[in-house]
Amino acid sequence: MRSHWRFSISFVLGPNASQTGADGAAETPCWLNIFTLGGWSVKGIIFNVAEEVVTDLYGADAWDSLLASAELEGAYTSLGNYDDAEIAAIIAAAAVLLDVGLDETWRIVGRHMLPLLAQRIPNIAGQYDDAEQFLLSVNDIIHPEVKLLYPDSIPPVFEFTDTDAGLLVRYQSDRGLTTLAEGLILGCGDLFGETVTVETMNCDSSTDCTFRVSFSDGQA
Ligand code: HEM
Repeated sequence: MRSHWRFSISFVLGPNASQTGADGAAETPCWLNIFTLGGWSVKGIIFNVAEEVVTDLYGADAWDSLLASAELEGAYTSLGNYDDAEIAAIIAAAAVLLDVGLDETWRIVGRHMLPLLAQRIPNIAGQYDDAEQFLLSVNDIIHPEVKLLYPDSIPPVFEFTDTDAGLLVRYQSDRGLTTLAEGLILGCGDLFGETVTVETMNCDSSTDCTFRVSFSDGQA
C-alpha cells in the first residue's frame, strides 16, 4: 500500500504543480497542522469530495484505511457539519500514507477537489472562459451559490489585486486552510486545461495569506 501511494504521488502532482516561496524556496511554511485548527466546523460535502478524490486516485480501500488511521467512522452527509479536527486527522493520515508533508497533502487534495466541487453546482464552469475568470468570481458568484445549497456554510473571503506581475490573491479565514486554498487555486487551472502557478508572497499567519497567481494557456 505504502509504495503504491508513493508511486502515485508523482502522477498526482503532475508537471504544473508549482509552489515556491517569494524567496524561491520550494515549500511554503507548514502553518497547518491538526493542532492549529480552532474548533471550526466543515461542511460534509468537503468530506464527501475528499473521499471521492482518494477513492478515484487510490481506490475505496485507501479511504477506509485513512479513516481507520484517523480513528474515525466516516459517515459524512453533505449537509452535515463536522469538526474540522476530523478533516485535519484524515489529511494527517493521508500525509503519512503518501509520505509527504501536511501542506503538500492539503494542496494535492485541494487541487483534485476543485473540479469535483465544481460538478456540485450545475453548469457553473461553463459560465466562464478561463480559470482566472472562474477564480475571480469565487466571492461574488461561486461561494454565494454554495450558500444557496448549504445555507449554514461559511466559505472564506478572498481579495484580488491585479498587478503586472500576476494576480494577488489574499486568503482570509479563521479556519487557516491556506494550503487547501492553494490546491483549490491550482485546481482551477485543471478545470480549464490551463497551467496555474501559485507563489506564496506573504503568509504571516495561517488565517491571512497572500499568493501571487499566474495563468497560462495550455496544460504543461
Ligand atoms: C464550484 C466551485 C466551488 C465550490 C462548490 C465550493 C464549495 C465550498 C464549500 C461547500 C466549502 C465549505 C464551507 C463550510 O464548511 O462551511 C468551501 C470552503 C472553501 N472554499 Fe470553496 N468552493 C468552490 C470553489 C472554490 C475556489 C475556486 C476556491 C479558491 C480560491 C475555494 C476556496 C475554499 C476554501 C479555502 C475553503 C475552506 C474553508 C475556509 O478556508 O474557511 N473554493 N468551498
